[in-house]
Amino acid sequence: MTPFVPGPTYQEMLHPELLPPAVRKAAEASSNELDPIHLFNITWRAPDRRIRHVVLPNQLTGVAANIIVMEGRHFPSGSHKVGPAYTTLMEGELAGEIRPGEHITIGPSTGNFGIGVAYISRLKAYQSIVVMPEGMSKERYQRIRQYGAALDLTPGSESDVILTLERTEFYKKDPKYKVLAQFELLPNYRFHRYVTGRSAIEAAQLYGNGRVAALVSAPGSAGTLAAADEIKARYPDAAVCALEPKECSTLSNNGRGTHRIEGIGDKMVTLIHNVLTTDYVMRIHDDDCVMGLELLERRQPLVEELAGCAPGSLAALSGLLGVSGICNVIGSIRLARHLKLGAGDNVITIATDGFDRYPSVLADLAARSGAIDRAKLCAWFESIFRGGDSGDVLDVRPREEKARLFGYKDSMWTHFGYAKDYLARMREQSFWDAEYNSIDRIDRDLAASRKL
Ligand SMILES: Cc1ncc(COP(=O)(O)O)c(C=O)c1O
Repeated sequence: MTPFVPGPTYQEMLHPELLPPAVRKAAEASSNELDPIHLFNITWRAPDRRIRHVVLPNQLTGVAANIIVMEGRHFPSGSHKVGPAYTTLMEGELAGEIRPGEHITIGPSTGNFGIGVAYISRLKAYQSIVVMPEGMSKERYQRIRQYGAALDLTPGSESDVILTLERTEFYKKDPKYKVLAQFELLPNYRFHRYVTGRSAIEAAQLYGNGRVAALVSAPGSAGTLAAADEIKARYPDAAVCALEPKECSTLSNNGRGTHRIEGIGDKMVTLIHNVLTTDYVMRIHDDDCVMGLELLERRQPLVEELAGCAPGSLAALSGLLGVSGICNVIGSIRLARHLKLGAGDNVITIATDGFDRYPSVLADLAARSGAIDRAKLCAWFESIFRGGDSGDVLDVRPREEKARLFGYKDSMWTHFGYAKDYLARMREQSFWDAEYNSIDRIDRDLAASRKL
């Protein structure tokens, strides 16, 4: 059997300190991102073991609750999407389904998962093809090429991701291709429920009442939203809110427009989205997120003045957020206001990637906005950080709302060949818990199969 390039267990991604010290040290010391030792850096933790996060200043948010933003940009390849790319390939190898030298990996994506697939495949010695829409930010294609993957581009942009799924049907017919299907496969759920969920709970313990009052995440694959299941297992009253672009309000009302928030709002309820633990859906204007990025990345002194923060107090946010990260920040502020969360309450949200992927998006904003003067920036600040309409928040806890979301999911995934009884089992929390509980076995099998 071809030996696999070894990587971490789920437990080691949550607790890298459990790795053999020589491996940990080598992983932290390596400056060559293409060295396979970097697989052991797939974790939310910094070398000092702290979960990487930033708490937004209350003057900026205008709410009393603590808004804790987990930082995805420090993961290898520049976003936490590398985690599900790794676990999907690792589980496929363990199951004997994917072998280096024999198979080519396929990453259907709008960018970051594709970057993750290209990166993990390179480190684990696979050729890979990323299938993604042609209209995404140019920084994404550069990274994918830099990692040596081929690109198979489908028409359109973010909200045309279903075309990438249709394209991957072609690859599924040839056994030499192995599709790392982020929208469908449970390693994505397992990574985020276990690694992201537990890391979020740990980050919140440092602030306020130490609990998680809410989780806010704008789903693409809805992998990140799986953290909700872990948070709710610990804090059953925690509120979970999925955000979506107002221009593509699929979860709210089957809306299917085009939008500018790369990575989210993919016109579907994904197969791995456990809608049982989603309590609210909130719509956010796509351009508020782009303009919010301009404000927080390029106009910090003015934002500090308008928010009443000390000069320099937003410096920690530089480079931290992409467009979807701003969406998550705006959604967290509005949810905290909507639920009347107070001082001591903690809202967890995520910055999937950092600003490095978006200079071209701000260049585009400048080109289409005309002169960006002080008056315009002040108006943007007011509407983005102080505005919001409670009509954009939908409570999806009632049974009829769950039934509606299950219905969307069934119509999408029966189209892609999933059996009705499998979809019916996904309507029970026991399905998700059983998937989660397989982590112990996977970790044992992985540890037994590798030599470190
Ligand atoms: C920039 C960005 N934000 C948010 C998301 C959504 O994360 P998830 O797929 O875990 O729902 C993605 C997913 O690719 C992304 O690339």
